[in-house]
Amino acid sequence: MRRLLVAGAVVLAGLTGVAIGQENYPTKPVTVVVPFAAGGPTDTVTRLIAEPMSKTLGQQIVVQNVAGAGGTLAAGQVARAQPDGYTILMHHIGMSTAPTLYKNLPYDPLKDLATIGLVTEVPMTIIARKDFEPGTMEELVQYVKDHKDQVTYANAGIGAASHLCGLLLMKEIGVEVTTVPYQGTGPALTDLVGGQVDFMCDQTTNTTGQIKSGEVKAYAVTTGERLQSLPDLPTAAEAGLPGFEVSVWHGLYAPAGTPEPILEKLSAALKDALKDENVVKRFAELGTAPVSEDLATPAAHTERLTSQIELWRPIIQEAGVSAQ
Ligand code: MLT
Repeated sequence: MRRLLVAGAVVLAGLTGVAIGQENYPTKPVTVVVPFAAGGPTDTVTRLIAEPMSKTLGQQIVVQNVAGAGGTLAAGQVARAQPDGYTILMHHIGMSTAPTLYKNLPYDPLKDLATIGLVTEVPMTIIARKDFEPGTMEELVQYVKDHKDQVTYANAGIGAASHLCGLLLMKEIGVEVTTVPYQGTGPALTDLVGGQVDFMCDQTTNTTGQIKSGEVKAYAVTTGERLQSLPDLPTAAEAGLPGFEVSVWHGLYAPAGTPEPILEKLSAALKDALKDENVVKRFAELGTAPVSEDLATPAAHTERLTSQIELWRPIIQEAGVSAQ
């Protein structure tokens, strides 16, 4: 009987310890992994929300860039991390396309990761190096058709948003071109400004500054309406590609098995960050906006991820693209 009591006390102490651990979480800095190179759109969104999130959590948020394989390297790393709330991931639409693109994906986004909440939906812009000959979208389409073996398209690897947008664009134009993969569209944009690569489709959180300063040529934005941040940039439909709309949704993830109270604390910190004045202002300047509070929740995020995996599967299969 005594042994039973002692064993029970040990288990209870253990459970209490876990509960206290969750109750006091976080007691040390939280790492958020960004699956692309520093300076790109995913990095920008992450660093903007990291500061107000750390205020709510009372601990520093450390941003760690882990680029490679279109974002799947980082996603796999976080899926295998300790489910203790100290390693989380920022990722975007690429989380929903990877299961179809990567036959041997080393994780299941819905089983090996836990959702924390959606963050923002970012429009994309079709841009080129500033001395690229085509002046309009119509001229770009014709030029790419006539020079398909010469032009080069930059992206951040198979599964990146820039890859997905390029896939859809080439489908519209009806050709395949040489793609130049980068560790992120931050470095890709540097090469585009430098004239080392011809064109790209990238998020406004990365391209707005260079479009405004004329360091790149911009043909269209991939939203149904023009952006207040880029009022002179026509929509793809206005520019001659009706129905060409792509926006890059972002969400925060933790390893599967992370205790609910910790996920809720992270979701609460995300909601605070999405109401932060500077986040709202900077997101608007960069052509985007925080999602509404009801979407910054695990349930809403899981629903979006599930529906997006189903939506993109046939599109990618029809395009006949895969990473392996
Ligand atoms: C980045 O942050 O570099 C981009 O999200 C890459 C991409 O998805 O195109």
